Amino acid sequence: MARTPIMAGNWKMNLDHLEANHLVQKLALTLKDLGHDYSATEVVVVPPFTDIRTVQTVVDADDLPIGYGAQDVSTHDEGAYTGEVSTGMLTKLGCSYVVVGHSERREYHGESNELVGAKAKKVLDAGMTPIMCCGEALDIRKAGTHVEYVVGQINAMLAGLSAEEVAKSVIAYEPIWAIGTGEVATPEDAQEVCGAIRVRIAELYDQGVADAVRIQYGGSVKSSNVRDIMGQPDVDGALVGGASLKADEFSKIVTFL
Ligand code: G3H
Repeated sequence: MARTPIMAGNWKMNLDHLEANHLVQKLALTLKDLGHDYSATEVVVVPPFTDIRTVQTVVDADDLPIGYGAQDVSTHDEGAYTGEVSTGMLTKLGCSYVVVGHSERREYHGESNELVGAKAKKVLDAGMTPIMCCGEALDIRKAGTHVEYVVGQINAMLAGLSAEEVAKSVIAYEPIWAIGTGEVATPEDAQEVCGAIRVRIAELYDQGVADAVRIQYGGSVKSSNVRDIMGQPDVDGALVGGASLKADEFSKIVTFL
C-alpha cells in the first residue's frame, strides 16, 4: 500500500510567536518556490503551545496546506491540572497532530509507555493524529537489544488502541543517541527498527494495519541525509528537530533535495 510520506518539524522549546509567524510564512514561500506537492508529501509543524494560535492565523490567512499540532497534551478534559493543555483546546486551534511520548518528555517528565498510550488514545478520540515516539538510549543500542526494547515500547503504547486507531496513527522511531547530537543513525539502522515495528504491528493487528501506519525516523535528520533515510522501505517520513527551525533547510528536507 502506498503511504503518503509525512515530514514534521518539532520546534521543541524554541521561537516566540513573532519568530513563529516569520518561520511559517518563510516555509510556505520556500516550498512554493521549490514547487512542493503537498499531496505527495505531507508537511506538519509542531510549535510550542504559545505559538499555535500564530501558526493557525498564518495557515488560515493563505489557506496553506501545512498541518500543525502540539508537542504534548493532557489526558484530562478540563479542571485543576495546572500547566496542562487539553485536546479540546488544541482542536479549537485547528491542530491535527499531537506528538506524544517524545524521549524528552519521558526523560524530564517521567512519562511511561502506558501514559503515552493513554495520551495517544485521547488524541484519537478528539479526531487528531498522534505521533507516538519510541526509541532506545545508547546503552541499549550498544548492548544490541534495541529492537526488542523498541518492540516492547510499541506493545505497551498500543495496548489500548484498536486496529482502526493504529492504522491512522504515526509512529516516530527516534534513537535517543541520535537526537540533537549530529550522530544520525545509518539508513540501515533506521530501516532495521522501523521494519521491526511494522512487523510487530502486523502481529498485533493484521497486515492491513501494518501497511497503513506511517513510521517516521527522527534524530539529526538534515537535507544531506534525508534522501538515503527516506529511501528505506519502512521509513515514511521524518520527525525533525533542530533542522526544522530554518525554513530553507526544512524545505529541502521536505522535498528530499
Ligand atoms: O523531535 C525531533 C527529534 O527529537 C529529533 O531532533 O533533529 O534535533 O536531532 P533533532
